Amino acid sequence: MPVTITADMVIHDVVAQYPTTVRVFQGHGLPCTACEVGSRESVAGGARTHRLQLEPLLDDLNRAANGEPVKGLAPERKMPTGKGIPLQMAGQSGNRIRHIVAIMSGKGGVGKSLVTGLIAVSLQRQGLKVGILDGDITGPSIARMFGVSGSPQQGQKGIDPLVTTHGVKVISMNMFLPNETDPVVWRGPMISTAIKQFYNDVDWGQLDYLLVDLPPGTSDAPMTVMQSLPLDGVVVVSSPQMLATMIVMKCINMVQTLKGKILGVVENNTYFECPHGERIELFGPSNGPELVAMTGAPLLAQLPIDPQLAKLCDEGHVEAYQSDAFQILASNFVKAIQIGVQ
Ligand SMILES: Nc1ncnc2c1ncn2[C@@H]1O[C@H](COP(=O)(O)OP(=O)(O)OP(=O)(O)O)[C@@H](O)[C@H]1O
Ligand SMILES: [Mg+2]
Repeated sequence: MPVTITADMVIHDVVAQYPTTVRVFQGHGLPCTACEVGSRESVAGGARTHRLQLEPLLDDLNRAANGEPVKGLAPERKMPTGKGIPLQMAGQSGNRIRHIVAIMSGKGGVGKSLVTGLIAVSLQRQGLKVGILDGDITGPSIARMFGVSGSPQQGQKGIDPLVTTHGVKVISMNMFLPNETDPVVWRGPMISTAIKQFYNDVDWGQLDYLLVDLPPGTSDAPMTVMQSLPLDGVVVVSSPQMLATMIVMKCINMVQTLKGKILGVVENNTYFECPHGERIELFGPSNGPELVAMTGAPLLAQLPIDPQLAKLCDEGHVEAYQSDAFQILASNFVKAIQIGVQ
């Protein structure tokens, strides 16, 4: 008797009964098999959520379950081993993380990674335990900013993240590549899987804060993080010229559509301070008040353009940075989390 998989069957049950179907789901861009919540959906529900055509998916699932060749099959999942180790779904359960916050923006290059790094440094200076999950799989920059290099090793409880000079735990795709400059040419589902593995398989241990640095835009990585990680909320990074392009609005709308919470907004590159104290708004007047009105979230900081900061980041010494604006960001961030989780 041939096996028949139907639209109303639960993804979790299908995968449990017919393990070969995992790669079919993934090949069709439906990574729910790895997601606790999504895998409880029906096949039809999963297809609907991911805007996929149900019939071709069902055809391929039935072929796979009956041992027939399937075209829409994801390649065997091999994480880049590089100089490091293969990541496995070890189901890291010993992690105890109090707060998880993603840093995002619709636009590229506005300072998401920098703000992530600065918040991490500030929290660590307050004596808190901090980790950074670099969710920018194809353009990671966190490891460089903190000057950490090397390959994470398999520990007893999972992958051990690398640790910065001052004790921030970091995991980033670059650590798994033979060369820092090697490109990661992956489609969305693989990027999503990597992010989940960074969360699930890394031995983060006990953390007060896990910060997730996201790539620009509103596509797979932000969606995965928002839907698969138990986020407290999101910090949106903007810069003065962004409102005109409405890109930041897309980001805010995405968070709201996915029922996420915007904990605060950081305006970066707000001004440049000349040596004699004069402030020049290089990108035009600040949009801080508008951002607050649009998001209903507090403005955590308005960061100046600071060549010293850029230099420290380039040299891998972000942990050495000190400034007034930075202090404001640090204290407002903690307040925002406290208010946000009430
Ligand atoms: N306030 C600032 N002062 C000086 N340099 C800055 C400032 N903000 C960002 N930079 C520099 O601008 C560059 C881009 O910043 P960053 O990488 O944080 O942006 P991003 O939004 O994460 O970019 P991407 O979208 O590519 O991930 C970096 O070299 C960073 O050091
Ligand atoms: Mg970045």
